[in-house]
Formats: sequence, C-alpha cells, structure tokens
Amino acid sequence: MSQEISYTPAVAELLDFDKKHIWHPYTSLRSPLNVYPVKSAHGCKLVLDTDSPVDVEVIDAMSSWWCVIHGYNNPELNEALTNQMLKFSHVLLGGFTHKGAVNLVQKLLKVIDEPPLQYCFLADSGSVAVEVALKMALQSNMSQEATKNRTKFLTIKNGYHGDTFGAMSVCDPENSMHHIYNDRLSENIFAQAPSIVDGLPTSQNGFEDLWNEEDVNDLKKQFELHSGEICAVILEPILQGAGGLRPYHPQFLIEVQKLCNQYDVLFIMDEIATGFGRTGEIFAFKHCQKYQDQRGISPSDQVKVVPDIMCVGKGLTSGYMTMSAVVVNDKVASRISSPNSPTGGCFMHGPTFMGNALACSVAEKSMDILLRGEWRRQVSAIENQIYRELYEYIKNPDNGLIGTVVKRVSVVGAVGIVELYKKTDPEWFQKKFISKGVHIRPFNCLCYIMPPYVITSEELTQVNQVLIEVLHEWKAHINQ
Ligand SMILES: Cc1ncc(COP(=O)(O)O)c(C=O)c1O
Repeated sequence: MSQEISYTPAVAELLDFDKKHIWHPYTSLRSPLNVYPVKSAHGCKLVLDTDSPVDVEVIDAMSSWWCVIHGYNNPELNEALTNQMLKFSHVLLGGFTHKGAVNLVQKLLKVIDEPPLQYCFLADSGSVAVEVALKMALQSNMSQEATKNRTKFLTIKNGYHGDTFGAMSVCDPENSMHHIYNDRLSENIFAQAPSIVDGLPTSQNGFEDLWNEEDVNDLKKQFELHSGEICAVILEPILQGAGGLRPYHPQFLIEVQKLCNQYDVLFIMDEIATGFGRTGEIFAFKHCQKYQDQRGISPSDQVKVVPDIMCVGKGLTSGYMTMSAVVVNDKVASRISSPNSPTGGCFMHGPTFMGNALACSVAEKSMDILLRGEWRRQVSAIENQIYRELYEYIKNPDNGLIGTVVKRVSVVGAVGIVELYKKTDPEWFQKKFISKGVHIRPFNCLCYIMPPYVITSEELTQVNQVLIEVLHEWKAHINQ
C-alpha cells in the first residue's frame, strides 16, 4: 500500500507560512525538513489534513516522542481535561493548592510504589525537571559541611537529558547535538557507557547471562579520581534514549547504586523517557529487583536500587499537556529544607505553570489508567510482537539486512531499535514511511519504534512490515 499526499489550497498556504516562519525541532529555519499537517488523531493514528475525500491516516509508531502512551483522543483523558477546564484551568501554586495537584501526587507516588520516594516538585517539561533535579542535588550537598564543595555531576557517555543548559551539561559531550556549546557549559565528569545488551525480551528473562563485569571499570575509576567533587550521579536507567537508543544491563545500575552508597553520592535517575512502563517495568530501575529475583537472590541479600531523585515527564500526561515531576526521598528533602541550607531551607525554583490544573487533571487520569495495570500486558505483548516480527526477521542473515545495512537490532519493552551502518536520510525515510501509512522518525543511524500501548496487533504488524520493507528499499537505494 502506498498513499499519495496532496493538499487543498488553504492547507498548502498554511504549510507555506509554517515553512517560512516556524522553527521545528532540530532543523534549519531556512532549509527545513518537510512537515505533514495533522487535522485529528485517535488511538495510535494521526489523520493528515490532505485534500483526499477519505481520511489519510498514519500509525504513529513514535507516540509523539515517547509520550502518548494511552493513545490519542482517549475518552477518559478527554473527559478529565474538559471537566477540569469547566472549573478552572490554572492557578498559581504560590499561595494556593488544588485537589488536582494533591490527587495527582498521591497517585503518582502510588504508581512509583517506593516508600522512600515521597516528596514531589511539579515542573513543566522534561528538561526543566532535569534542571530541578540538578539544583536539588547541589542544594542538598550545599547544606552539609562535609559535602558542600561537591559541585560536579558524574554521568555516562551517550546520555541525553534535555536541551536546557544544566541538562546539556550532562548530555554526551561528543556525540550529542549540543557539543557546540561544550565550552559554555559547566564541567562534569563522564564515564564510559555500559555496553549494549542484545538479548531476549525483558518479559522472557531478557538480561540473563549478558553482564560484562568490565562495563563498570571506568565508572569505578571516575568515582576514585573525583570522589570529593561528585555531587550526584545522573543517568537514564536501562535504556539510553536520544543519545543512541542503547539498552544496557541492570547489573550496571546495581553497581552504580553500590558506588553511590559507598561514596555517599546522590543517585538521580532520569526516567523521563523510560518511565511509566515503556521498558516493561513501571520504572526502568525496577528491572534491577526483577533481575535479582530471577537470579534467586533473596530479598535481604539484594542491592536495593532506588533513586534519591527521580525525574518523570512525557507519559505523565500521556502527551496531553506539558508536565513533569521530580520526586525525592527524605534524605534529599531534609537536606534541602535544612536551616543550614544557604536559602534557609527554601528550594529556589518555581515555574509559572507548576501544578497547572489542566495538566494535573489529565496526569491524574493517566495515573489511574496505569494503576489499573493493563499497561503490563500491553507492553509485554508489544515487546513480544516486535521481537517475533522485527527482531527475529532482521537477525536472520538469510533476510539480507543484518551485516549489510543493519548493524544492530534490539528490543526492550515497547521499544524496537534498528541501528544502521550509514546515517539515515530523514527526508527520504519519512516520505517512504508516510506513504506506507506509518510514522517513524529516524535520526542519525537509528530507526526506532515505540508505539502507544493501545496499538492493536494488526497495527503493530503493519509498523513492523513497513519498517522491514523500507529497510530493504534503503539497501537498494544506497547500493544504486
Ligand atoms: C531521558 C530524557 N530526559 C529529558 C528529556 C527532555 O524532555 P523535554 O523534551 O520534555 O524537555 C528527554 C526528551 O526526550 C529525555 O528523553
């Protein structure tokens, strides 16, 4: 199936204005990538604003960059949002509170389900959550004589934490899109990233026997070299996202936790992309307990891996509103609130839209949906289907992709990753995908899928088939 796309004069005019005046993410204003107009959306489908008498629909295999977990135009989320809108849309959290904010935080803590994590700062985007987390860690260290000179963050290469200045300073310094700012950013410490694990789906003991002990050597070395300077470790647990789509072994996180305990360093986990079930556990760090359980380690002998500070965003409102949250334990909350803190115990951050009532209403409903627990079956079904239809096909050398154009294929939770040898041509790929009714947005050498949890198995088959078809066409294209 291939669909041609053309527009009415009114839509063509809109696109022309867009092209001249509006920046799109990570593109040139003067020579932008093509964009497609969307007129509505439902389930996991976007309906394009074309001149066709029948709707031209594409399956959004990207969940609008990881966030639309419960699907577009979800009746429950719509209802929550409209009900709130009829009451009030926004009120400052300075001097006021509201039921939506309180209910949301109660339910978010329930979803997190880790007794130490009890204190929440509501922010307005993932990058801001990371800024808040970094400031919290700094302030937490400032309030104690023994740690007040610890000002650097230790992280791993290939990380991505957002586009604002603090966040950029902990993104990969070489391969990230932010490297041009390197000499304008605060200086942090980067350890080698763990190797990529390429195993069975997480629902089938995916991490078994794949741990490489050497993976943690450089991190250990950095701890030894910089122990008096490290304020906190920050990383994306289990799956590094925009810095390379790299799934890694839970034992690495266990080792990081041990080092944080040993050196009394705070552990910040950025679960903005991985949170709310995407990797097969409700939060990616929970793979550590599952892995230790699978190995038969008794609960009392397990290393308890749990962040001191955790950032969430994206799926929090299932893509309805921009919102994020930073959740911390008592150690961090008490240190920040200490009268010895330079601010007398205040945390000096307060975005205008923190705790926005519309965002809280829809996030609360998104938490309700997660608390019902269907996500586990949905994510596991998606993972197994990507494994069968995409992973196994590509891994088979008889199918002519692996080792020729494809360097790597991985699956972790509801994420399928194909890494190519050559950098993709985004415009070429996008046109192919859209004409076959699927939206996949490649970057650098990566083509990856992370569909909404509500995708049907027929729709997911279409996504996997289209991706395979386009990879074969890409092979023919570059071999021309
Ligand atoms: C792991 C991670 N952290 C932070 C961010 C930044 O979030 P936002 O784009 O909402 O600022 C992202 C966005 O992709 C992310 O994947």
